[in-house]
Amino acid sequence: MVDDMHSEITLFVNGKTTSLEVDNRRTLLDAVREDLGYTGPKKGCDHGQCGACTVMLNGRRIVSCLTLAVAAQDAEIVTIEGIAEGDALAPLQEAFVRLDSYQCGFCTPGQICSALAMLSEHAEGWPSAVTADVSPDAPTPELDAAEVRERLSGNLCRCGAYPSIVRATLEMAARKGISS
Ligand code: FES
Ligand code: FES
Repeated sequence: MVDDMHSEITLFVNGKTTSLEVDNRRTLLDAVREDLGYTGPKKGCDHGQCGACTVMLNGRRIVSCLTLAVAAQDAEIVTIEGIAEGDALAPLQEAFVRLDSYQCGFCTPGQICSALAMLSEHAEGWPSAVTADVSPDAPTPELDAAEVRERLSGNLCRCGAYPSIVRATLEMAARKGISS
């Protein structure tokens, strides 16, 4: 029933469009997990502190627990389920497996979505809090381990797989020719 508290919305997730009725207060995380069945994004804290719910919205990483589903209407949303290439793992997924970049795996979908969007941000020249030169005409900062750690600091891993997460991300950056 559409009323002051409910809306009919269209979500475009992993290449598929779905219309659904939601409570206006429903988060994108709950809509994606419980209404659409994409359970890759995880509810770690539900208040924007752990990054486990990270998905990409129009190519940018967002915490879906702090995003209203109604605000994501018509945006292009990609969850971890939309990253693989058919039956083949995406290169960063493959690197996570090969380099042991997880233990329990709870944070992994968010780590991978965050890392992929971060590589795009870096390629566009976005500085981070540890970038030495942030003047407008500064060259794109080298993507070293310190930069990766800072840029992925919004994604917590309770298993402490950080060294391997950084290694896999740097390997991906090297493949793209953007690491130091
Ligand atoms: S569940 Fe969204 S940031 Fe923790
Ligand atoms: S692998 Fe367990 S929380 Fe990161």
